[in-house]
Amino acid sequence: MEYFDVISKRYSCREYQNKKITKDELNKILEAGNLAPTAVNFQPQRIIVIENEELLKKLSLATKYTFNSKTIICVAHDVNVSWHRYRDKRDFGTFDSAIVTTHMVLEATNLGIGSCIVCSMDENMVKNILNLGENYIVDALIPLGYPKDEGHHNTRKKLEEIVEYR
Ligand SMILES: Cc1cc2nc3c(=O)[nH]c(=O)nc-3n(C[C@H](O)[C@H](O)[C@H](O)COP(=O)(O)O)c2cc1C
Repeated sequence: MEYFDVISKRYSCREYQNKKITKDELNKILEAGNLAPTAVNFQPQRIIVIENEELLKKLSLATKYTFNSKTIICVAHDVNVSWHRYRDKRDFGTFDSAIVTTHMVLEATNLGIGSCIVCSMDENMVKNILNLGENYIVDALIPLGYPKDEGHHNTRKKLEEIVEYR
């Protein structure tokens, strides 16, 4: 698919078919995430693929937004590894995770796989379920699957509303 088609076609898919994506598709999505740039190339991200039914059930108690997906990717970062800006100590790990996440959802779109970026969750519950230590921040969950629906186009603000030239 053309690059601009991929970014135009991506949407938040909230209804999936009752079928798991293939290992090959999953690997391509993970590889795309791994090509993401990170601050100072520190690569603080930790990617956890959840396909175990028991864990998926537990995750559905930590967020309303699993959409019965059979594959969920958790994107977290290690605050002991992520770049903290020298001047103000700001942690850029979530920024890194956002780019990793974007790479993965765009590759999913490219493969005809639906995805949704989910941040509304009980983060502590997710950390407990996935056995992540104190040094981790959970940045997003990404349910994946074959879309049930046709997709949709969301309204966006006009460029004039968000861009200014000085
Ligand atoms: C940082 C972030 C957090 C989000 N969290 C959720 C969420 O918790 N649940 C959900 O259903 N969608 C979530 N979304 C999806 C947004 O609602 C969606 O991207 C937005 O409405 C635009 O729609 P589109 O993705 O279909 O273009 C999130 C998206 C982003 C970027």
